[in-house]
Amino acid sequence: MSNRGAFIAIEGLDRSGKTTQVATLQARLESEGIPVKLFKFPDRTTAIGIMIDSYLRSQSELDDRAIHLLFSANRWELAGAIEQLLAEGTTVVCDRYAFSGVAFSTAKGLSFEWCRSPEVSLPAPDVTLFLDISPEKARERGGYGDERYEKEEMQRKVRDVFRQISTEFDEARWVTLDAGRRREDVAADVWNCVQPFTSGLASPLQRLWN
Ligand code: TMP
Repeated sequence: MSNRGAFIAIEGLDRSGKTTQVATLQARLESEGIPVKLFKFPDRTTAIGIMIDSYLRSQSELDDRAIHLLFSANRWELAGAIEQLLAEGTTVVCDRYAFSGVAFSTAKGLSFEWCRSPEVSLPAPDVTLFLDISPEKARERGGYGDERYEKEEMQRKVRDVFRQISTEFDEARWVTLDAGRRREDVAADVWNCVQPFTSGLASPLQRLWN
């Protein structure tokens, strides 16, 4: 039987260059002839995603738990498609995943355990790359944008929760990269981490936090 595709999640703080790194990784995989599909969470195009988008742009208000569950539901509505692609041998790259869900909602004051529960049993990434940047460096890069969570105080708290999450995974499954460096250097590290997965995996897909 042929290998399944690898499931790679890229997480990062705002201004970490995540969008650029994801695009660079996708282009590199394609240039190497590796079938790849990119998902971005939140996926703002679905009915659930449209509600999330309105909330993030402060055009609507929602209870903290309600928005948390919508972010999670947005992943669950696409989980079947992700599993299908992986089974067909396609490498799946996710720009943000369940870890963002837990980090941002916990940073708002909800309990870590409560935040994690709707994410349990989602397809588990084979490796998660966390693009870390200090709030000071983010400020140097022009500061944060206008969306709801793009404030220094919030980003500091989010960073702390990401660090807490990282302690739950071994080094093979969670890699923290210093994203405050030149983008070429970060891209080289991203590729070094992803390259071993490009021939796919024989091991079954795991479930998150099971
Ligand atoms: P983006 O800037 O990568 O599009 O992400 C949108 C914002 O949503 C970002 O501030 C992180 C936040 N977020 C959550 O709060 N929960 C989630 O589950 C996800 C995926 C993102």
